[in-house]
Amino acid sequence: MRVAGKISSSSSSGPRPTVLLLLGAALIFSLFVVAIQSSFFTTGSRTSDPNREKIRILSDFQSRVQQCVANRGLGMTADIVDHCKLVLKFPPGTNSTWYNAQFKIFEPLEYRYDVCEAILLWEQYRNMTTVLTREYLDVRPDGWLDYAAKRIAQLGADKCYNRSLCEEHLNLILPAKPPFHPRQFKTCAVVGNSGDLLKTEFGQEIDGHDAVFRDNEAPVNEKYARYVGLKRDFRLVVRGAARNMAAILNGSTDEVLIIKSVIHRDFNAMIKELPNPVYLFQGIVLRRGAKGTGMKSIELALSMCDIVDIYGFTVDPGYTEWTRYFSTPRKGHNPLQGRAYYQLLECLGVIRIHSPMRAQRKQDWSDVPSKEIIRSAHAAALRLKMGPSSKQDDLGPFGSCKVWGTVGPDGGGPVSGSPDMSDTRKFSCYNKWEVAPFKSLRREAQEHYFQIGNVSLYKMDGNKLDDLVCVRHTSLT
Ligand SMILES: *[C@@H]1O[C@H](CO)[C@@H](O)[C@H](O)[C@H]1NC(C)=O
Ligand SMILES: *[C@@H]1O[C@H](CO)[C@@H](O)[C@H](O)[C@H]1NC(C)=O
Ligand SMILES: *[C@@H]1O[C@H](CO)[C@@H](O)[C@H](O)[C@H]1NC(C)=O
Ligand SMILES: *[C@@H]1O[C@H](CO)[C@@H](O)[C@H](O)[C@H]1NC(C)=O
Ligand SMILES: *[C@@H]1O[C@H](CO)[C@@H](O)[C@H](O)[C@H]1NC(C)=O
Repeated sequence: MRVAGKISSSSSSGPRPTVLLLLGAALIFSLFVVAIQSSFFTTGSRTSDPNREKIRILSDFQSRVQQCVANRGLGMTADIVDHCKLVLKFPPGTNSTWYNAQFKIFEPLEYRYDVCEAILLWEQYRNMTTVLTREYLDVRPDGWLDYAAKRIAQLGADKCYNRSLCEEHLNLILPAKPPFHPRQFKTCAVVGNSGDLLKTEFGQEIDGHDAVFRDNEAPVNEKYARYVGLKRDFRLVVRGAARNMAAILNGSTDEVLIIKSVIHRDFNAMIKELPNPVYLFQGIVLRRGAKGTGMKSIELALSMCDIVDIYGFTVDPGYTEWTRYFSTPRKGHNPLQGRAYYQLLECLGVIRIHSPMRAQRKQDWSDVPSKEIIRSAHAAALRLKMGPSSKQDDLGPFGSCKVWGTVGPDGGGPVSGSPDMSDTRKFSCYNKWEVAPFKSLRREAQEHYFQIGNVSLYKMDGNKLDDLVCVRHTSLT
């Protein structure tokens, strides 16, 4: 083929070989070669592309996501770029009055996502442990002296230069092994703090879930019962909320508090005052996607629940200010970015959105891709990512395990609240979850644990779940 190209181009250069003509000939020749090569490669890949079937599965999946966004997105649309990428668009004329201080722009009306990455990430989340434990620090290289120090703000990394000192700082919040398990609950409600909650009466519906997740200073009492319910199980807290926690909890002593980022003096003071179980969150930081504590609550819920229903997130059109159901409006991060991401998550089968503008629609989820469809899209995305040379092992649940550890029956150290634990926590209400016997877990959670070889998966570093710390338990109690 190359030879043919050469002949035809040299003949076209003609009898008068001026510099210009020669240059022209060279140009034509190289175009020829490029054309021949590219046509060679495309026909080659068309006949023997090992990815063809996976791309077809993912393209079908994209069409479903697109249809789902059209049906459920309250005016949002999805433009498909390729088998992985798509762009979510708000309708023209959407009021973008939200200034993004970080990028110094008004909030954009289009958001680009990689659906393949998103589906890999969120399906992985369903198998994760998302609270920090003693076994994690034991197994992780430099777990105590390096990593633990990073989770202790102010109290000081400099005060954590040997293991026993680090332990002192973290003891109050460090269970030996995971207190919660994947698939522990069938249905969960994650309740944000949006002022929208006062436009509906979702209270009873929220209380009908197996577990309810709230965040920070969200009050739960008779005054708001009709809107946000009364059930309380988990609460994700940031430092600013620590000082008010006793008043907010108002005697709710077994509500589990999960600290969002780092332990801090204010938290230590709070822990000493309250009998509630307190743990440290061990999730990831999403750089794109949605910001805020609400997103973290979703991550936490997804690591324990089959179905995650969200209420009180700012997800309807027409926002001009950031509202909370229990206080006056205030400044907040911008809602369009979150709204787009939550809509994507709904159409990936990760969450189900409830809001005033969706309150009247019947609870019909038939346009959200089914579990089987999601599973096959996940498998296709994983094979594409790992490439043709990947071994079967790379594709199993441990393909991302970077560090392995084993914990025996009495490994891992003292259980929170046991006599060898600090006096402060001796009377905490940890026992609702932490020492519940394995056999009392929901059947699906037990089955999952056996299927995954009694292994707990934790994130290692960074914003993805590509590297995991994996801990095998030789006995379950
Ligand atoms: C850790 O450091 C403290 C303070 O310097 C010291 O008292 C303690 O013995 C050390 N512990 C270990 C295990 O080295
Ligand atoms: C605290 O709970 C009690 C009932 O247990 C209730 O009477 C009281 O109003 C609550 N206080 C607040 C501030 O909600
Ligand atoms: C957009 O929002 C601003 C500020 O809230 C408001 O003044 C303006 O009328 C809004 N425009 C439209 C078209 O809704
Ligand atoms: C999650 O766990 C299930 C077993 O319950 C397993 O079949 C599946 O492959 C795991 N998924 C991932 C992404 O690791
Ligand atoms: C998981 O734990 C159960 C109960 O202790 C045990 O029977 C089973 O052999 C364990 N599985 C693995 C793969 O270790």
